[in-house]
Amino acid sequence: MSSVTSNIESVLNEERVFPPPEDFSRNAGIKSEEEYERLRAEAHDSPETFWARMAEEIHWFKKWDTVLEWNLPHAKWFVGGKTNISYNCLDRHLPTWRRNKAAIIWEGEPGEQRTLTYQQLHTEVCRFANVLKRAGIERGDRVALYLPLIPELAIAMLACARLGATHSVIFGGFSSTALIDRINDAGCKLVVTADGGWRRGSEVKLKAAVDEALKQTPTVKGCIVVRRTGARVSMQMGRDYWWHELMETVDSNCAAEELDSEHPLYILYTSGTTGKPKGILHTTAGYLLQCHLTCKWVFDLKDEDIYWCTADIGWVTGHSYVVYGPLSNGTTVLMYEGAPNYPEPDRFWQIIERHRVNIFYTAPTAIRAFIKWGEHWPLKHDLSSLRLLGTVGEPINPEAWMWYREIIGKARCPIVDTWWQTETGAIMISPVPGATPTKPGSATKPLPGIEVDVMTRSGKTVGPNEGGYLVIKRPWPSMVRTIWGDDERYRKQYWSEIEGVYFAGDGARCDKDGYFWIMGRVDDVINVSGHRLGTAEVESALVSHEAVAESAVVARPDELKGSAIVAFVTLEGTHKASDDLKEELRRHVAKEIGALARPDEIRFTDQLPKTRSGKIMRRLLREIATSGSIAGDVTTLEDFSVLEKLRTEEE
Ligand code: PRX
Repeated sequence: MSSVTSNIESVLNEERVFPPPEDFSRNAGIKSEEEYERLRAEAHDSPETFWARMAEEIHWFKKWDTVLEWNLPHAKWFVGGKTNISYNCLDRHLPTWRRNKAAIIWEGEPGEQRTLTYQQLHTEVCRFANVLKRAGIERGDRVALYLPLIPELAIAMLACARLGATHSVIFGGFSSTALIDRINDAGCKLVVTADGGWRRGSEVKLKAAVDEALKQTPTVKGCIVVRRTGARVSMQMGRDYWWHELMETVDSNCAAEELDSEHPLYILYTSGTTGKPKGILHTTAGYLLQCHLTCKWVFDLKDEDIYWCTADIGWVTGHSYVVYGPLSNGTTVLMYEGAPNYPEPDRFWQIIERHRVNIFYTAPTAIRAFIKWGEHWPLKHDLSSLRLLGTVGEPINPEAWMWYREIIGKARCPIVDTWWQTETGAIMISPVPGATPTKPGSATKPLPGIEVDVMTRSGKTVGPNEGGYLVIKRPWPSMVRTIWGDDERYRKQYWSEIEGVYFAGDGARCDKDGYFWIMGRVDDVINVSGHRLGTAEVESALVSHEAVAESAVVARPDELKGSAIVAFVTLEGTHKASDDLKEELRRHVAKEIGALARPDEIRFTDQLPKTRSGKIMRRLLREIATSGSIAGDVTTLEDFSVLEKLRTEEE
């Protein structure tokens, strides 16, 4: 817990409080702290009545019989109910004036623009659902989506959901090896991809990665390819089909299936403490409900708003807050395909100015990059359309929070710092902008219906401002249902660390006002540029290289990325340490997992520090990687000479 306690000190001194601006509160959905606290109290006192009342907001083909069946660690929400998330995001808006409202305004990195109204999006989704049907996809089948950030990704998700097929979106930055693992784990029948996508002026060759992967994925029967970049790709007869050609052959009517509340909606892989990624399973009704409500509460959506969440749809933020949450609210969603600094570091500000964006939701790592690039870039643009700012993915340091507030929000826009996880499905701790006074660096309070606590390992609630483990004490509708194919891991990872509660894997403290301060991961998961990576995944990629005998990967704090990846590596007998080998290993990891996992630093060493029972002492390596020396307890170390060597090898 050393990192938890040291982080506490750095933010303990933060005393600033910013009340919601009066004019914001006046026009907000939730207008005051009192009103908000009443909602929280209602949810606290009778959670099931509260969630049932809230569930009236979504469309049901058939209402539920039971709000919650809870047999720890398994929850079933709205049992007996029938709904469809695609119907809620589309069909439900068609009898209203929103039929002709923009659902998606998309901008490609090279600059082209597309707008799809709710009616048009509905048509495209129905047609693609018919394409899927023709390809033999049925309720319960898994479909892998490996696409750039283009409207077809949202269309494919909504089409799967319409039929009850379970989608598994795989981030376009992952390599073909990562693709193989995920496709095989989920047993996908079909892959939807594109020829490529644009990122910082270069083409990301997605179809080529899929071709490589499909050599080792026996369950995949077909591949549908969107033409995005126009690059030449190889198409295998009988397996590969062009999206645009298939779409011409189907009609545009396809009724949404009436699905059970607990029907599997999607699997999304995320990193854990072992080398094997976890397939987080989300189901239909509870997930929809909480995405819908949190979007309304936290982003205070108005029908006139243009809302932009910059996350890639390949991450959970994109699932919940680019696609399902905003569309179920009938919002206009802005999507941008590419990098924030292409062609220049003001691309985001240009987009905000061009489309008059009102709500902007991004990651602290991006904010730190903006700070580094210089405030003259945002200052060149008219950002007066903005009314609300948000952050997600990692703790935001008060300096970055203040910069965001002053330079982007002109001290006018509230900031919502939203804490949640792939596993929680939706935002759990966050200010509600018209009601909650904010403190820079704190995600503030849990949302209504969410019971959060900070505990010791033995399950005792700690006192105000004492560091501990963040836990969730009650089931919530959008919670992870299991780890795909590994229910035991689900139980062990989340529900056994501290008895009776959900273990989030984050350190936190709660101050005297009930505000939560998240202090980062307490397990072997690291947060690089807002993306979650297991150190074990990087280690297993390294040892798959013939030169590597053993490796240990740790995080070093990094101003820009949050954490940088440092890999300690011992070599197989005949291999010699060299700069070329370092480069080769970095490339190897990028090939095995994806560029986001490429180590920032590789250090060769004769031995790794281990306990007498052979466990690598990562804590010591973290200290060496961070400060170059060791101050902590080393009494369990098996061989003291290792430390000396590690220190000298560094020089
Ligand atoms: O450590 C926390 C951090 O991101 C982790 C979840 O990562 P992932 O499942 O990839 O989802 C990211 C987007 C929801 C958490 O365990 N995290 C996320 N949001 C915050 C955060 N840490 C501090 N403050 C946040 N607002």
